[in-house]
Amino acid sequence: MADLACNFAGIRSPNPFWVASGPPANSAYQSHRAFEAGWGGLVWKTIGTPIVNVSSRYSALDIGANRMVGFNNIELISDRSIDVNFREIAEVKKRWPHHAVIASLMTETREEWHDLVRRSVDAGADGIELNYGCPHGMCERGMGSAVGQQPEVAERITSWVMEVAKIPVIVKLTPNITDITAAARAARRAGANAISLINTINSITNVNLDTFVPEPMVAGMSSHGGYCGPAVKPIALNMVQSCAADPDVRLPISGIGGIATWRDAAEFIALGSGSVQVCTAIMHHGFRIVDDMIDGLNAYLDGKGMKNVNDLVGKAVGKVTTWEKLDLNYRRVARINHDTCIGCNLCYIACEDGAHQCIDLVSPDAHGIGLGPGRVPYKPVPKVREDDCVGCNLCSLVCPVDACITMVDLPATKSAMSWSEYQQKLARGEIEPIEPHG
Ligand SMILES: Cc1cc2nc3c(=O)[nH]c(=O)nc-3n(C[C@H](O)[C@H](O)[C@H](O)COP(=O)(O)O)c2cc1C
Repeated sequence: MADLACNFAGIRSPNPFWVASGPPANSAYQSHRAFEAGWGGLVWKTIGTPIVNVSSRYSALDIGANRMVGFNNIELISDRSIDVNFREIAEVKKRWPHHAVIASLMTETREEWHDLVRRSVDAGADGIELNYGCPHGMCERGMGSAVGQQPEVAERITSWVMEVAKIPVIVKLTPNITDITAAARAARRAGANAISLINTINSITNVNLDTFVPEPMVAGMSSHGGYCGPAVKPIALNMVQSCAADPDVRLPISGIGGIATWRDAAEFIALGSGSVQVCTAIMHHGFRIVDDMIDGLNAYLDGKGMKNVNDLVGKAVGKVTTWEKLDLNYRRVARINHDTCIGCNLCYIACEDGAHQCIDLVSPDAHGIGLGPGRVPYKPVPKVREDDCVGCNLCSLVCPVDACITMVDLPATKSAMSWSEYQQKLARGEIEPIEPHG
């Protein structure tokens, strides 16, 4: 069995799966339940001067039968007293000495930051996470994403924290910024030990078309919220990779955003995360989801012959490059398996109306195509004109049947050529312009 033990910037945990700062990490009671279920670490709900929350607080984007594809909240930091939070952190650490407990902090002045950092150390926290990401409520008071969006401010506050921190410090970044690497570099310049990302993304999930009030509704009004859950995973992966690939960042990354399964976690790890954090999926399904995450990651690492999580960290980072370095001569085309095709013709419509018009509807008899499941005799079937197919993937993405349309590599007929090489060769008159397919 692979070793899942994690040493993230000096913070040790039995596995890389941490509960993210949020409602599931609000109290000692929940921390005990999380660790009993198998979570390796937990980032406490952000501690600061206690706030007052509104009712209601959450809304969601459902797609068909899939509930909470995206999740939105207007909840602020902890509404419990600073004393209670630190007392409970100490209690949890006493009972779970080998699990990671990280204190998430947010406050304003240098003195207040020093005080919260010292109290985190005294409570026995294994690390500190600085919340520069909350995009609602706190930012209007100059905290949260108001800090994260100004790298020079984040750098100044982080250096205040580093003046007194005796335990590892993680800077949690906001995705509500044009260039996440600017914020990550500021964390490094200030001497932080690690970064975590992403916090939530500014959002309005829906509008009630009778009352014209978006959800969540508070006395007939709403407010911009923070978006998270499965819908944000691609944005988070993109930002994690950008930070992991930046030579001026070089900090351990705790990946967050839409993680619900071991696969999600493995993708974040492959793109450079040394640990992963989960909030929405726990709010949706409970702490027990970590069971599958542990089993799945173990089986995956074993299958790949990897001895520990570190063997996977960053494996995919170098597989992302800038567009102009991609090979213009590489070609792949769509192939339809007519034995499994159900004849819905979604691929045809998508290609015809929404893409590059390279699927024909043909008579099955004339093309020697047998009858697949659900198909009516003599009804035309989709067939790809491979010479014209641009390999855009759309037909395989819309096809409702698993693996019915696959994308296949065509044998290379020309050597690899990037956009910049193409421009140079064209300028030197060494090649003719490439004609678009189709
Ligand atoms: C209701 C709610 C409350 C949250 N509160 C905090 C918080 O107090 N501090 C913090 O750093 N992040 C907070 N977050 C953000 C999460 O820690 C996490 O960064 C974000 O939700 C993305 O992860 P997910 O897709 O797994 O939920 C909160 C998220 C939700 C949904």
